[in-house]
Amino acid sequence: MPFSCSRLLTGLSALVATVLVAACASPGANPPARAAGVEARVAALLAGMTLEQKVGQMTQAEIRHATPDDVRQHHLGSVLNGGGSWPGQRAQATPADWLALAEAYHAASLATRGPVKVPVIWGTDAVHGHNNVRGATLYPHHIGLGAANDPALMEAIGRATARAVRATGIAWTFAPTLAVARDDRWGRSYESLSEDPARVARLGGAEVRGLQAGLGAADGLRGVVATAKHFIGDGGTLDGQDQGVLHATPEQLMAQHGAGYTAALAEGVQTVMVSLHSWVDTASGQPQPQGKMHGNRALLTGLLKEKLGFDGLVVTDWNGIGQLPGCTANSCAAAINAGIDMVMVPEDWKAFIAHTVAQVRARQIPQARIDDAVSRILRVKLRAGLFERSPSQALQAGELAALNNEETRALARRAVRQSAVLLKNNGQLLPLSRGTRVLVVGKSADDVALQSGGWSLSWQGQGHTNADFPGATTVLAGVRAQAAQVQFSATAEGVDPASFDVVLAVVGELPYAEFNGDIGASGTLRHSSRYPEDLAVLQRAAAWGKPVVTVLLSGRVVHANDLINRSQAFVAAWLPGTEGGGLADLLFRGADGRVQHDFTGRLAFSWPRSACQVPLNVGDAGYAPLFALGYGLGVDDRALVPPLDESLPRGGCGGAEEVAILRQTVQRPFSLHLRGLGDKPWRGPDPAADPLAVTEAPAPGVGQPAVSVSTVQMHAQQDAKRVTWLGAARLYAWASARTELSNYPDAALVLDTVVTRAPAAPVVLAMECGRGCGAALDVTALFAQAGAAPRTLKIPVACFVARGLDAGRVDVPFSITTTAPFEAAFARIRITAGAARDADALRCSDLPAPPSP
Ligand code: BGC
Ligand code: BGC
Repeated sequence: MPFSCSRLLTGLSALVATVLVAACASPGANPPARAAGVEARVAALLAGMTLEQKVGQMTQAEIRHATPDDVRQHHLGSVLNGGGSWPGQRAQATPADWLALAEAYHAASLATRGPVKVPVIWGTDAVHGHNNVRGATLYPHHIGLGAANDPALMEAIGRATARAVRATGIAWTFAPTLAVARDDRWGRSYESLSEDPARVARLGGAEVRGLQAGLGAADGLRGVVATAKHFIGDGGTLDGQDQGVLHATPEQLMAQHGAGYTAALAEGVQTVMVSLHSWVDTASGQPQPQGKMHGNRALLTGLLKEKLGFDGLVVTDWNGIGQLPGCTANSCAAAINAGIDMVMVPEDWKAFIAHTVAQVRARQIPQARIDDAVSRILRVKLRAGLFERSPSQALQAGELAALNNEETRALARRAVRQSAVLLKNNGQLLPLSRGTRVLVVGKSADDVALQSGGWSLSWQGQGHTNADFPGATTVLAGVRAQAAQVQFSATAEGVDPASFDVVLAVVGELPYAEFNGDIGASGTLRHSSRYPEDLAVLQRAAAWGKPVVTVLLSGRVVHANDLINRSQAFVAAWLPGTEGGGLADLLFRGADGRVQHDFTGRLAFSWPRSACQVPLNVGDAGYAPLFALGYGLGVDDRALVPPLDESLPRGGCGGAEEVAILRQTVQRPFSLHLRGLGDKPWRGPDPAADPLAVTEAPAPGVGQPAVSVSTVQMHAQQDAKRVTWLGAARLYAWASARTELSNYPDAALVLDTVVTRAPAAPVVLAMECGRGCGAALDVTALFAQAGAAPRTLKIPVACFVARGLDAGRVDVPFSITTTAPFEAAFARIRITAGAARDADALRCSDLPAPPSP
């Protein structure tokens, strides 16, 4: 049925309808009409399928957990590779390896028994180029593309990415993210194109157009199935908390977060991924929780499918169904009944199939709902041409050249140029002439991983070296290619100031993705609080008295007044990806002395004036950013940025103050260590160690470590550390920078735990304040019961202080020791102000001194 705005608007609440009318009025609302041929084939295929086959089609398993033979036997409809999951789990896998695995899954899906054979579809997060594949060109993340604000560029990147993805045998990308990030503390801010919904709609729509261009065309395998995600309002959660709670009226929800979806649907986007957050509808005066989006029938079925006429498939996010009340990650009739068609159940897909088949038989899920879901899946697969050709028939199948070639590099380099925003250029320092003697400083100058951020080769983008990105150009390399005289010192130490004319500081954030990048309710946007090393570099540089140009690589707008004050010129370059040369194009004049490329990037997010200005969005009452949405200088602009206020409010920004130790991963500045308590003298933790590395656990018996750790799921994927003690050992968090807990009145150490094996010896919890300083408590009783459900423990910091802790300089905020078998998982370890006053906080009188050794 053709897309009809009048049909869509009938029967919808007046205010929501107003929003949609506006969207319908915009040009280009013209998704593909349903082809009669496709519909007839869908019906014929469906008619021949068994219930098991249908439920198999609705199941998406992860490649670490499903072999081609699993696909064949269980009729799996889809596989995905999560961020940092590669064929054979080898980061070095070549495009040919990817293709071979895709071909194997495809062949297996067609080798099922029974008359109906349905090709499997593989999904991947190609969110800034084909970013899981070694050697691929990586484009700027969305935050930069929002600043470039060029629909034609988006479309071109979409096309190039689709070609790269197809060449590895994959037909589906979980992109674009259409989030409208409203609180820049959210760790996924960089996946957002803008705080402005209209810009997200314009650019996100263009990206869908590029990704899906040629999808299913008769001439070959071009275009990939795109995904509008995460439906709906993921960027609007309170405090920018990932998977958190959005408070909004239905009208606000649509007005702030809906436009991207109307645009993507108008471009015929074939899949929609549901968000992991919850919604509280504030319309009724009294907040009424709508709960998790994964269970919201009104939005998934009522709005998206019925009113907006979406006829593609709705897929969950990672284990998303498990977050609904009464559900687990492998069983959830409610989610399917709400309108979910395909379930991303990465690990436990076998149990999911069994449970779902049983639920249909028990009539907990109507057969018609299953048939609708499978019809949608079949429709998308038919439209994508999957029945016609095998993966290896794609253009340039298996060739690295499809992922990285002169054209992709030029396109990415252009995108880098277009995305950088010039915030300050006092005295018109930029662009520099090529003859300038340049001293390059800063940790981000020569590091592709820091240029690329999360979702780059791995999920969180951490732990990579430049060697992992063959063919990429760092900012430093880009500068060297243009400037005649370049020196480099990452720390800005030991340099003779007479040997250069200008300092170019390239600083920024370390890579992060979901959860891990959240700053949190108590945190501020002040960059130097998280990255003091960057301020230190700028302080050293400013002391030389030479002009300083700073390029900041970050996944969000940050409060950087201290850095801006120490720079004559300041460029926000976001997360540019593999083509660092694009920045050099802007920073330097051509060989002829003329400007090569002017800065055309303009802010897609409001830049904060003070550290606690969150959320900050255009249209706010009293909107007072330092640099407003749309701001950005060209090299001929004579605007002068005056000295900026660097003061910080006393005691932080207020609210629920918290020091996070373990969230999704260990939080800076802490590292987490495991250590056996063998005969070895205590040497203290190694600050250079990998935060998750297991260090020195001497064996109680030969060959068996005293303690081991694995990463497991407690509340969200991989958010917990399960520690298995066999002998004397301890688990502890440590930071060289002392934490001042004296600032946290009534604070408690809070952690969630699941005991899987009760302790056989006393368990001791400690906090320390340097060598010979600290306090310990006997907490054996707290862990005495093994159980399945997580328990939250709140241990007042005052109990440690009473036993000798100096709360003003804590270096080990959490340490747990035992000497005999014990197993428990720990998650969400933090110190929360005020938590000692909670009714469920423990009392010091229940926490005796540990037995003397
Ligand atoms: C996996 C990633 C995946 C992510 C999705 C993680 O547990 O390791 O591969 O992309 O979950 O949330
Ligand atoms: C993320 C999605 C992603 C999926 C698969 C999830 O955790 O939220 O954006 O597409 O993992 O990797």
